[in-house]
Formats: sequence, structure tokens, C-alpha cells
Amino acid sequence: MNDASGIGNDQWKTRFGFMLAAMGSAVGLGNIWRFSYVAGENGGATFLFVYLAFILLIGIPLLLTETSIGKAGKMDAVGSFKKLAPNTKWHLVGLMGVFGGILILSFYIVVSGWSLFYLYQYITGAFWTEPDGGFGQAFESWISNPFAPLFWQALFLGITLLIVMNGISKGIERANNIFMPALAILMIFMAIYGLTLDGASEGLAFLFTPDWSQLGNPSIYAMALGQAFFSLSLGICGMLTYSSYLKEKDRLPGATVGIALMDTVFAVIAGIMIFTAVFSFEVDTASGPPLVFIILPSIFEGMPAGNLIAIVFFVLLTMAAFSSALSLLELPVAYVHRTLGLSRKAATFVCSGIIFTLGIASSLGFGIWSGVEYNGNNILDMIDNFTANLILPLGGLLMAIFVGWYVKRDQAIQMSELQSAGLQNIWYTLVRYVIPVVMAFILFASLFGFM
Ligand code: PHE
Repeated sequence: MNDASGIGNDQWKTRFGFMLAAMGSAVGLGNIWRFSYVAGENGGATFLFVYLAFILLIGIPLLLTETSIGKAGKMDAVGSFKKLAPNTKWHLVGLMGVFGGILILSFYIVVSGWSLFYLYQYITGAFWTEPDGGFGQAFESWISNPFAPLFWQALFLGITLLIVMNGISKGIERANNIFMPALAILMIFMAIYGLTLDGASEGLAFLFTPDWSQLGNPSIYAMALGQAFFSLSLGICGMLTYSSYLKEKDRLPGATVGIALMDTVFAVIAGIMIFTAVFSFEVDTASGPPLVFIILPSIFEGMPAGNLIAIVFFVLLTMAAFSSALSLLELPVAYVHRTLGLSRKAATFVCSGIIFTLGIASSLGFGIWSGVEYNGNNILDMIDNFTANLILPLGGLLMAIFVGWYVKRDQAIQMSELQSAGLQNIWYTLVRYVIPVVMAFILFASLFGFM
């Protein structure tokens, strides 16, 4: 081990660099691919309403909770808990996070690999006209091939590895300084374009006119909670790890609100963009995970300048995926780097090797292992649901209990860096009472099938 703290001198150069990286972590496939199909399957506007309420009441306060643990602990997921709560079992929350991150990245690279492949197909012109049998069949036959998708997911992970290997300020911060502004511009372009389409008003109604009777549908709550955690990168100590590289003077509260706001704006814009297109071309909103990969290409084909729009869209999706994958890889790398005493480079290779190997299962689940399923979910869906709906909220719940009950009130307030007494009270009450109760209820109910 070359340094006792585990992080050495590597830190974010600026607070803004941290914010961009954390926004990059939050904004990802979750906002575009996952948000659109989960919202599509769960009633659009009503889902969005519950989702927004969870972001505000649970997401933002917990983002502050998680980052405050990292900033005070100044170490990786496990080390930070060990430092703040020596001789206790709290570090297991960090360990669960490390495993959760590895699991999420193992399927994240599969979908990211599809995105990279689609980008390639549009750049070479292969998808400019609908392939024989349609885009649905093209997607099916491609993902059921045991080798080709593995190549693309290896390529995606390989690029992520090269960035993470270079550390925080020289690798992750630099990459996000390029990705994030580009992402914002492309996204605004796509949303404006979406609003010019014929189905815009119907798409907007689907996304913004709630049908309150659907609030009686219990599964909306578990899905919205899982989506809020997934989208904010919350509950598995990825944000904790990022905030451990902050300088002392860089304050947390404003940054966490900024991160959540940006993430939510991205999800809403992605929703506008996708659902206006979906309604313009009259396809089913509940098409599930393939929505983005099967439905959108047929839509692009019928659009004026659709090929160009498709390229812009898949550049956007791939970049967003990269900026999130960086944080998912940094989480176990920081831990392995410290505990096994490996160099950062070696730790990055070890973690990537494990993640790639696990990812093979999710990929083959669409082909030769498609027989492995539970309740109609293939391997990728199972890992996705298990992590988003269980591991992430459980991690968040435990962090709320840690800061709300284990840590003394004064210390918790100090860690949060909130200045106004009013905000301190609101935040502390939410973290100590409201969030644990609401979350324990939803988790319990969805685990035992009441929902
Ligand atoms: N928030 C990322 C997304 O929306 C996914 C993610 C989850 C990243 C958990 C890090 C930790 O795509």
C-alpha cells in the first residue's frame, strides 16, 4: 500500500469539476433508457409525479447524507465507514455498495455496448434503412449472437478503464469536463427537435397530465423509488466515493441540490424527447427495455434528417453511459486499491476483469442463456431489478439510519455543512424519521409482495 489514507493526493481540482463528475454519474442510461421504459410502463405522468416527490423528499436529503459520509470519511466506501464508526459493522454498508456497484456495472456495460454498436451502425449507414425483418428482428438477432455484443461491451469497458486508470483529476474530472457540456447541448437540441414533431402535444400530455386514480396502484411507488435511487446514483456509495476526493473548503449542500436538479431536468427532457417521438409514430409506450433500441430506430427512419438525429441521439446516450460507468468503476477500484495494496492501474484491471466476466451472463441472457428467467425477467432484468429496487434503497435506508441515529446530532449537522437552522432541522428530521419510515415501508411491502 503506498499511502495510508488510500486516496493519496488525488482530489478534484475544482468544486465545479466534482459537480460535473457527480452529475455525469447521475445522468446516464438511467435517465434515457431506463426512465423512459419504466415511466412508459407505469403510467407516464402519475409515475413522474411520484418520482419527483421522491427525488425531493428522499433523494436530495439522502444525497447530502451520502456525500457527507464520504467527505468526512475521506476514504473509499468501506474505509469511510470504518473511520467514522470504528469497531462496528457499519462498514458492511460500504461493502454492500462495492458489490452493488460491480453488479450494476456488469449489466450497464451490456446496454452501453448496444449503444456503442448502434452508433457505429448509424455512422457506417447500416441502419439508415430498415433492415429486412425490421429493427425488432435486427435487434433480436444481434443480441442473441454470443460473441458480437461481448466485443462491444469489452470496448466500452476498455475505454472506461483507460480513463479511471488515470485517477480523479487527470482521468475522471477531465473526461467529464468534456462529456457534460457536450451532453447538455445535444440534449437541448434533441428536446427542441422533439417539440416540433406532430405528436408533441400527446406526448406532453402523457408525461404531464397525471391520472390521479393510478396513485392507488402500489407498484408505482416501488418502481419510482428504485428509479429515483438508480438515477441519482444513490445508495451504493458511488457518490460517497466521489465526495471523498473533495477539498475541505468545497461545500456540499448546494452541490447536491445542483446534481439532483440537473439529473431531473435531464430525465424530463429525455422523456419529452422520447414520448413526443413515440406518440408521433403511434407506438406502444409500454414496450419495455428495448424501447430505445427497437422503437426509436424505426422512428428515426421516418423522420426528416432522421439519420443525423439518430447519430446525435446515440452519441448522447453513449457519452451519458460513459460518465456514469466512470463512477461505477471508481467505486470498487478505490476499495481494492486501498485494501489489497494494488496500484491504481492494477486495481482498475482487476475490477474490470471481474465486471466483464459477470457481464457475460447478462449478455448471454438474451441469447443462449435466455432460458434462465424468473417471472419473465431475463438475467439482465433480474440484476437490474435486484440492484435498483433492493440494494440501492436498502443502502440508502442504512445510510439514513447511520447519520440519523448512530452519529450524534451535532456531528451529523456539522457533516451536512448546512448553514441555516431551518434547513438543518428539516434535513435532520427527514433523515432521522421520515425517510427511514417511508423507505422501510416500501421496501418491506415490495419484498413481501404486498405491492
Ligand atoms: N445514475 C446512473 C444512471 O442514471 C446509474 C448509476 C447507478 C451510476 C448507481 C452509479 C451508481 O444511469
